[in-house]
Amino acid sequence: MVNCGSGASFADTKESIPVLDFSLLTSTDPHERSKAILELAKACQDWGFFIVTNHEVPESMMKGITAACREFFELTEEEKGEFGGKHVLDPIRYGTSFNASIDKVLCWRDYLKVFQHPEFHSPNNPPSFREISLEYGKRVRKVAKDILRGISESLGLEDNYIENALNLENGFQLLTANLYPPCPQPELAMGFLAHSDHGLLTLLIQNEISGLQVHHNGKWVNIDPIPNSFLANIGDHVEILSNGKYQSVLHRAVVNNRDVRISIAMQHAPAWDAVVSPASELVGEEGNPPAFRGMEYKEYLELNQSNVLDRKSCLERVR
Ligand code: SIN
Ligand code: FE2
Repeated sequence: MVNCGSGASFADTKESIPVLDFSLLTSTDPHERSKAILELAKACQDWGFFIVTNHEVPESMMKGITAACREFFELTEEEKGEFGGKHVLDPIRYGTSFNASIDKVLCWRDYLKVFQHPEFHSPNNPPSFREISLEYGKRVRKVAKDILRGISESLGLEDNYIENALNLENGFQLLTANLYPPCPQPELAMGFLAHSDHGLLTLLIQNEISGLQVHHNGKWVNIDPIPNSFLANIGDHVEILSNGKYQSVLHRAVVNNRDVRISIAMQHAPAWDAVVSPASELVGEEGNPPAFRGMEYKEYLELNQSNVLDRKSCLERVR
């Protein structure tokens, strides 16, 4: 249930995924903002996922980027092949499954990954992709920055803690478009295996087709798309920075036999050379030793590429 009125900025979080009214989080009224921050903390602790409404990114832009990604997937294999079979640190990558060269079981998924920041890249085809993704990327980055400020504050840190400690001015922003074609036997296939996201915060949009499932209280919960909103989730690096207070939650995508599903995930992450470890303010009290060792984000990214199919194995490697 979406709560867009004044007062509580989240819907009841008992049964349904929390909803963050972004306009309250960024409100100049300190009472409204601190209430929103308390509820953001609760959402991060209880779910690791929340819906973001009233975020100021125009719906036309969300539709525009979805259409541009769809057009990319509709290009010929030869045209898309230019970006095929590349390394995780190559700026534009097209492929199938997760990493088709090492996956033992292939997923019913095609993907396009494009670096947005600190260097902006775009395929030249479809011609509209560059302009739309540049503008969309900027707008979503601003939303992510404000939510990460709220997350910092909700952890009892300065609001610009994450920004400064992880050098978000050069922060890595990655667009991943996923295409799940109709699958004749969906019960035998998976679109995207259970994984946690490697960055700090992911903001996802989807076409109107369901498929995403979030692991919550030991069960897989279907999260249906809500038009004109983002689905946000915290990633491994918030789990590391918060010393495990906020956990990066497993999620996966299932497929269906009727409709094409498209999702577009924008991941916001530390700068490649930032070394991420638990915030010193959050460790050291009795019974709370650092749960993770520091690792350069870029190294983590490369490790993640070879381990993602093993659930949260990447995080386990930095314990
Ligand atoms: C993702 O986890 O990045 C995408 C899942 C989805 O397709 O909704
Ligand atoms: Fe994900």
